[in-house]
Amino acid sequence: MRTITLFRGDGIGPELTESVLSIFQALKLPLEFEQFDAGLTSFEKTGDLLPAEALESIRKNKVFLKAPITTPVASGFRSINVALRKEFDLYANIRPAKSLPQLKTRYKDIDIVIFRENTEDLYIGEEEMVSADEAIAIKRITRPASQRIIRLAFDYVRRLGRKRLTCVHKANILKYTDGLFLEEFRRISEDYPDVEANDLIVDNAAMQLVMNPESFDVMVMPNLYGDILSDITAGLISGLGLLPSVNRNEEYAMFEAVHGSAPDIAGQNKANPTAFILSACMMLEHLGYPDEGVRLRRAIARTYEKIEDRTADVGGTAGTREFTQAVIRNLN
Ligand code: NAI
Ligand code: MG
Repeated sequence: MRTITLFRGDGIGPELTESVLSIFQALKLPLEFEQFDAGLTSFEKTGDLLPAEALESIRKNKVFLKAPITTPVASGFRSINVALRKEFDLYANIRPAKSLPQLKTRYKDIDIVIFRENTEDLYIGEEEMVSADEAIAIKRITRPASQRIIRLAFDYVRRLGRKRLTCVHKANILKYTDGLFLEEFRRISEDYPDVEANDLIVDNAAMQLVMNPESFDVMVMPNLYGDILSDITAGLISGLGLLPSVNRNEEYAMFEAVHGSAPDIAGQNKANPTAFILSACMMLEHLGYPDEGVRLRRAIARTYEKIEDRTADVGGTAGTREFTQAVIRNLN
């Protein structure tokens, strides 16, 4: 029996958690979950945002599935996600955006995977007021952090037999920081002669993503560009409700939906669990259950065939529970 750490999350988190738990019950795999509250719910119960037992469980299990968390504004914490990324050095944020053919969207056949560097760039949060009228922020890019995310992306393209890896940067202006990232990309690409590698300046990449999204395959970039462009790819496949992700390194992997805890619809059986279930699919593949991952993806795709089985955010009438029941029916 393999044990996985599960954060139930806040807002719609518990509903998404119930959805995934009932699907896993139906899959009948030798997997069990250690469940924890973290974030607002935990804070209100215990005064602790990230309980020590939860961190201990992650350290032991190495794999965790995390429902969205509300970061209380007055906690002095910038974000639990940032804290978890730091604690476990989860340097790679991987976001695959793939169209569901059953869903009518502006674009068809989108299949773009973004590898976002997760530990540095402007996200280190080193900002200061130089005077009353001037503020500065530090953009830090290091060679080791750039190398590991770039290598991980090249390995992924090679392992999955994908077509191309595109590096996104602004090295024409930021010659040292983004220049270093691009230099490493070009150097490392020589170790992967079988992978087609190219690079694009970030503003051009944003335009091309909207004009010719089908020309993109796998992309790698520093933190801030990854944040922004992965919201564009979410938009291409019709919103955050469909976008799963993993934050990982060689030892730990944290799977989560890209969206937040949606307090506006919490507890109303309205949340679309697709992104969270797709995150669980990625987790199954990571745990060595690729066939079950495919089976679950197929069940989700089938569920989207009937409008009445879809949730309201994608034009349907089903609630979280009804959608989940349809996915379970479609497993067979
Ligand atoms: P949000 O993603 O929670 O919600 C934005 C809009 O999308 C809302 O109208 C919401 O109802 C809708 N929405 C989001 N997920 C949905 C789903 N699965 N099904 C149907 N509709 C969905 O973003 P917002 O409002 O900016 O943040 C709310 C809270 O979530 C904040 O406390 C924020 O810190 C937290 N957050 C947590 C994240 C995480 O734990 N990974 C990521 C992003 C935000
Ligand atoms: Mg973002």
